[in-house]
Amino acid sequence: MTPDQISLVRQTMTWVQPRRQEFAADFYRRLFAADPGLEGMFSTDPVIQQEKFVDELTAIVAAISDFPAFLLRAGALGVRHVNYQVRAEHYRVMREVLAATFAAGFPQDWTAEHEQAWRSAYDMVAEAMLLGRGRSADAPRAAWRP
Ligand code: HEM
Repeated sequence: MTPDQISLVRQTMTWVQPRRQEFAADFYRRLFAADPGLEGMFSTDPVIQQEKFVDELTAIVAAISDFPAFLLRAGALGVRHVNYQVRAEHYRVMREVLAATFAAGFPQDWTAEHEQAWRSAYDMVAEAMLLGRGRSADAPRAAWRP
């Protein structure tokens, strides 16, 4: 990611903060519409899960320019996701849904540059999460990419 892309991604997180709940609710609505099988994997109260998701995304985006801290945080998150039965291909679905949620939530501000920056950021997060969980047989690192 370029420094400009990091700035663009951080800018989008400032849009999210005042509308966290609405953003996260729309994100999960879209995620479960894109793959109805995913809904059953979540057992936590949806409002709490939505809060945790935005908090984690904010923390990871804040850590992006400190690569060791970023790797540690995203890697630990990836390890926990093994226990949630999340598989490599799920990361691809989430990437599309996240971009669609930003596009729908901030139509005046979201540009092609924001989208490209977010795709790069998301790819880094997903790679680091998958690295954290190690190279298990079901999840070669490149498998989630189109
Ligand atoms: C950018 C990538 C992701 C982020 C930032 C993220 C964030 C989180 C956070 C903060 C939690 C709360 C528990 C914890 O901290 O361990 C969580 C739980 C969970 N996530 Fe993710 N996640 C990501 C990717 C995914 C993907 C791709 C899936 C699969 C579709 C997924 C499915 C789940 C499930 C099933 C839980 C457990 C919910 C429960 O306990 O009911 N996550 N995620």
